[in-house]
Amino acid sequence: MDSKNNILEAKDIKRHFQTPETTLKVLNGISLTVVKGDMVAVTGASGVGKSTLLHLLGGLDRPTSGEVRINNILLTDKTEEELADFRNKHVGFVFQSHYLLQDFSALENVMIPLLVARKSHHEARKKAELLLDFVGLSDRTSHRPTQLSGGEQQRVAVARALANEPDIVLADEPSGNLDTATGRKLHDLLFRLSQEHEMTFLIATHNNELAEMCRQQYEIVEGKIIERR
Ligand SMILES: Nc1ncnc2c1ncn2[C@@H]1O[C@H](COP(=O)(O)OP(=O)(O)OP(=O)(O)O)[C@@H](O)[C@H]1O
Ligand SMILES: [Mg+2]
Repeated sequence: MDSKNNILEAKDIKRHFQTPETTLKVLNGISLTVVKGDMVAVTGASGVGKSTLLHLLGGLDRPTSGEVRINNILLTDKTEEELADFRNKHVGFVFQSHYLLQDFSALENVMIPLLVARKSHHEARKKAELLLDFVGLSDRTSHRPTQLSGGEQQRVAVARALANEPDIVLADEPSGNLDTATGRKLHDLLFRLSQEHEMTFLIATHNNELAEMCRQQYEIVEGKIIERR
């Protein structure tokens, strides 16, 4: 495979947690590659290590051993400060709960990562408006998170994740808190972003419908990853 197209490469990553009683070997040698524009699902039983894997892939946590590269840049030897900067510019996160800042409007929540990336206020505002329009929320920009429905909050979270045009969006149960119909709308949004805008997604999910929409499907079983499709 042409490695230039590889957005994400994980090589033999292990993540063990030391507890007072024992060593929990949650991930035990996981390798995977994600190419540009791909939409990849990671499934597996609760507690198998999906969130742990996403945190490692996005540089929120460090593996016990192994290597993670995003756009051919090795994350595993970066300092905390370098990692924070790298995440802001290159990785978008969408979690099960949106983690929007409650005291800020939808627009401001999307502007924040842009301002952190030193965009001007004017530029950040224009970009955030465009993104909210794209996720169908142009008439909700001044709403605080508590004034939005669960599905709307998740769409703001998607807009925020896309703000700095990340190389990859890592989504952890993005529709886990949504009802079936609202979840479906979110899945369609992610699918459209991948198909029409070549955005790259890696999604941890229990949702079969979402997993089936993905071009590639992996399952974590006993610390290893198995290709399902
Ligand atoms: N910091 C930590 N210290 C010790 N154990 C941890 C830590 N983080 C996660 N674990 C353990 O690792 C395992 C995997 O957790 P993880 O959250 O990745 O599972 P998951 O597949 O995302 O589950 P779910 O589908 O319920 O979200 C769990 O058994 C959990 O208790
Ligand atoms: Mg999880």
